[in-house]
Amino acid sequence: MPGIYDEIGEQKAILSILEGVVAAHQSLEELGYEVVRVPLLPPIEEARETLKALDTDLVFNLFEGFDTRPKTEAAVAGMMAEMGFRYTGCSSAALALGLDKAKAKDLMRAHGIPTPEHQKLTPETVDSFQLRFPCIVKPSGQDASHGLSANSVVSDQPSLERQVAMVSRSFGGDALVEEFVDGREFNVTVMGHRKLAVLPISEILYDLPPGVPRVLTYAAKWEEDTFYFNRTKVACPAEINLEQSAMLYRTAEAVFRLLVKRGYARVDMRLGEDGIPQVLEANPNPDITPGSGAARQAAAAGMTYTQFVDRLLSMAMRKSAV
Ligand SMILES: Nc1ncnc2c1ncn2[C@@H]1O[C@H](COP(=O)(O)OP(=O)(O)O)[C@@H](O)[C@H]1O
Ligand SMILES: [Mg+2]
Repeated sequence: MPGIYDEIGEQKAILSILEGVVAAHQSLEELGYEVVRVPLLPPIEEARETLKALDTDLVFNLFEGFDTRPKTEAAVAGMMAEMGFRYTGCSSAALALGLDKAKAKDLMRAHGIPTPEHQKLTPETVDSFQLRFPCIVKPSGQDASHGLSANSVVSDQPSLERQVAMVSRSFGGDALVEEFVDGREFNVTVMGHRKLAVLPISEILYDLPPGVPRVLTYAAKWEEDTFYFNRTKVACPAEINLEQSAMLYRTAEAVFRLLVKRGYARVDMRLGEDGIPQVLEANPNPDITPGSGAARQAAAAGMTYTQFVDRLLSMAMRKSAV
């Protein structure tokens, strides 16, 4: 895809995932498992054949979807379930819902979980906009901050129209437009099945001049040495009081039970003006590379990286395959 999925930036995201594969492999060997790395290549039919040929009953699933085709992540988890493998992390349904942000938000709203007001818009329907500015415009079926830059936050109709057109041109499909919540931003990682465990809370700290929107842009996440990357830090554990952390944990667990159900997920939230957490999204199977938020949170909980990997693995061993 031209434009937004710019090749160099995209490669950075991919290289980071590969680091995670190497680290998890090493930890699994330390734990005494015999490990075979199974790279999956497109097309999806070939991936199916590769999986079918596997002689194992447990998969440590680090598959994130094929480049520019994020939906293949859920498809592969679905195949593993069909084939009767036990695998770490989330189900195919949860992974699919993780990419359908509008549907996930509708479900949260229906269950009383606060999430910013939203509308799906295309260049043809942009006149029906009825939210309050400022808003953030994102691709509706992407993750990893694809398509997010300072320009994604809009405060008037012309810039809204420009961003909706940009998203539609670069990613196809609708743009997801949400009211912009400018409060503190937190991540809570939840893991488990019926009995849930949570990791210490992270806060994203923005050190940006006035007028530059506080957003975890693509650059902030992946592109070292950019302005956004250098001015965005993570604090873990976050400096918050007990009441705030209890509220964040309660909200994250409710989101997990509703949308994710089993495996591990990172719930992204921002505090509204009233101090109530607004859920931006749930990320099923978030990045667990050693430098990732989840790994940092596990370390803050006193776990070594290998203990964290062991934890994710033993959850997969306990649950049934589906
Ligand atoms: N409604 C919103 N209000 C304020 N900031 C937002 C909102 N939605 C997204 N963001 C910002 O954009 C970042 C990425 O958005 P998110 O929905 O989490 O997409 P992704 O799947 O790409 O991570 C968030 O971490 C946050 O900084
Ligand atoms: Mg996110």
